[in-house]
Amino acid sequence: MAAYKGKRVLITGGLGFIGSNLAVRLVGEDAEVSIVDSSVEGCGANLYNIAPIRDRVKLIPAGICDAELFRDDLMSAEVIFNLAGEISHTHSMEFAERDLQINAVAQLQFLLGCRQHARGRRIVYASTRQVYGAPEYLPVDESHPVNPIDFNGVHKFAATNYHLLMSRSGDIDAIALRLTNVYGPRMALNIPCQGFLSNFLRRLLLGQTIEIYGDGNQLRDPMFVDDAVEAFLMAGAAVRPPSRVYNVGGPQALSLSEIACMAAASADAPEPVFRPFPEHQKEIDIGSYYTDSTRIRTELGWTPAVRFEEGIRRTVAYYRSELSHYLDPAAGEPTCNLPEHDGARRRLRYGAA
Ligand SMILES: NC(=O)c1ccc[n+]([C@@H]2O[C@H](COP(=O)([O-])OP(=O)(O)OC[C@H]3O[C@@H](n4cnc5c(N)ncnc54)[C@H](O)[C@@H]3O)[C@@H](O)[C@H]2O)c1
Repeated sequence: MAAYKGKRVLITGGLGFIGSNLAVRLVGEDAEVSIVDSSVEGCGANLYNIAPIRDRVKLIPAGICDAELFRDDLMSAEVIFNLAGEISHTHSMEFAERDLQINAVAQLQFLLGCRQHARGRRIVYASTRQVYGAPEYLPVDESHPVNPIDFNGVHKFAATNYHLLMSRSGDIDAIALRLTNVYGPRMALNIPCQGFLSNFLRRLLLGQTIEIYGDGNQLRDPMFVDDAVEAFLMAGAAVRPPSRVYNVGGPQALSLSEIACMAAASADAPEPVFRPFPEHQKEIDIGSYYTDSTRIRTELGWTPAVRFEEGIRRTVAYYRSELSHYLDPAAGEPTCNLPEHDGARRRLRYGAA
């Protein structure tokens, strides 16, 4: 993409899964990349993710709320990719205030910093399909009602609206990408609450059988990370795009059973097994979801290129050679606990502290 050659870009969350893949690609495009990431415990930050480009990016170990710490980088950035966030729906239900802090409060603070130091600049925000909740119809387009069923969806929607509000006032020039489930190299396999794809992969790579909750008939449209990166690049480079919100999904609607079987086949692993839905998962299950990506295809020219069979093959190949940087097989089954937040654990649904 010639659009990024020599350009200064800033990536928040650039040590995480999608952000680091974006950083690697942008360095390959000869962009000048700054990364802001505070390595939030329980999120996917991993310094190894940027090992291939470590000497070609500026890494700022700061929270996005502390704009003064990276003011010069904000001032000089021509495009800002805002991927800092917490993706776990389960964490958001266990630690609702933590999710509010990460996914809403810090976002607002960041955008106020952008207003001051990067006024009018293009910001591409990593929003999520989770804002729609359980679909009323399929495939889900941008006109679908917003009805999140977990705190993650509520807070990500709030942050999306901060971006949109401040764009209407001219403070920033934001585009929000509502991403479906993304998978690929550099996912944090050591964190058990980041969704079914990282769980499937972890089990495969540890030689365990994949477990499917429920009947496995729910549909998803997994998107390979290179396709997600391409969507960010196109949104960052789009000149006066007609819309500010785009749904971004994968090329196929597949059942969880199909996804699990294809993943197992790619690693020569045994057939998946079925388990009853755990209660805490059932309450935030959205049923079937797949994306209508017509708007981003027609307005920005983006289309997903990597089918699941190919994407999962590339993902397994990556971890086969890099696994020790992502998982310690001797450490046993990882848990969802976030130690520093144990005291603040709240099940708000029940009103209990
Ligand atoms: N992975 C998916 O399937 C998916 C789907 C939809 C939306 N998204 C969104 O895309 C973004 C990136 O997701 P990911 O899978 O790469 O997650 P990730 O957990 O791998 O990376 C997120 C990164 O953000 C950093 N971070 C969080 N809060 C921060 C803060 N306040 N200041 C500085 N750094 C902070 C973390 O340290 C981490 O490195 C997230 O905003 C997520 O909500 C992801």
